[in-house]
Amino acid sequence: MTANIIDGKAIAAQLRQQLAQQVTQRVAQGLRPPGLAVILVGQNPASQVYVRNKRSACAEVGILSKAFDLPPETTEVELLKLLDQLNTDPTIDGILVQLPLPAHIDTQQVLERIVPDKDVDGFHPYNVGRLVLRMPQLRSCTPKGVMTLLASTGVTLEGLDAIVIGQSNIVGRPMLLELLAARCTVTICHSRTKNLANKVRQADLVVAAVGVPEMIKGDWIQPGAVVIDVGMNRLDNGKLVGDVEFSTAKIHASWITPVPGGVGPMTVASLLENTVQACQFHAG
Ligand code: GUN
Repeated sequence: MTANIIDGKAIAAQLRQQLAQQVTQRVAQGLRPPGLAVILVGQNPASQVYVRNKRSACAEVGILSKAFDLPPETTEVELLKLLDQLNTDPTIDGILVQLPLPAHIDTQQVLERIVPDKDVDGFHPYNVGRLVLRMPQLRSCTPKGVMTLLASTGVTLEGLDAIVIGQSNIVGRPMLLELLAARCTVTICHSRTKNLANKVRQADLVVAAVGVPEMIKGDWIQPGAVVIDVGMNRLDNGKLVGDVEFSTAKIHASWITPVPGGVGPMTVASLLENTVQACQFHAG
C-alpha cells in the first residue's frame, strides 16, 4: 500500500482563494478590509521568515497587515502599551505577537494582554478555555489547520484512536482538545512517555509535533493509519524533514502529510481565516 498524500499547499491555496473572495465582497459593500497587526520583537532569523510569509499571505487575500518590527531591547512595558493601543484600534481585527519573545519579556503577560476577540493565534487563556469547553471561538492556527487537512481526506474521525506526540501550548495541547471535540479517543505523549512505539502502533491517527527529525519510525505506523507530521526540522545538509520517517511511513499509512508542503502552509492559511472571522465579530 502507498498512502494518499495530503497536499497542504494546494488546500491552503484554495482556502486563501475563498478568503480573498470574502474580503473582496466586504470591500465591494463599502466595508473596510480586515486588519492584522503583526509584531516582531528582535531579529530571530526564523521568526523574520515566518513573519514575512504571514504578511505576504495577508496581502494576497486583501487583509491589511500593519507591521511592527521592534528592536530587541524593547521593554515589556513598551510592548504592553502597544498592545493596549491595538486592542482599541477600530481598524485592527487581529493581533499577532511572533514567538519566541526575547528572554527579558514575560510571554504569558503579553499573550494575556491581547483582547480575546483579537487573539487570532488563539493563545489567550479565554480562547484555550473555549476550546476545552467545546465552544471554540478563535482557535490555535496549527491545530485548526490540521483539522482542515483531516476534513479534506473525508475520513470519519469519530471513535478513532488518536495519538498526539508533543505537549506544547502552541500545538500538542490544543491539538488534543480539537481531536477530543471531534470525538476521537486521544492519547498525548511527551518526553517522559513509556513505550512510545507501542502506543503509536495502536493508533488510527498519529499527529507528530515533537521537533525531532524522523523520531517516529515508519514501521511503527499501523496499516491504514492517518499520519499528520507537524515537524519541520532542518538537517545539517540543509534538507527539511518532519518528525516522522516519511519514506517508510507512507508504505503503511492510508493518508500522510509531506514535509514541506503539508501542515506548514495551513498554519498561515488558518491565521488568515481567524483574522477574517475576527473581522466578522467586530463588524457584528
Ligand atoms: N512561533 C512559532 N509558531 C508560532 C505561531 O503559531 N504563532 C506565533 N505568534 N508565534 C509562533
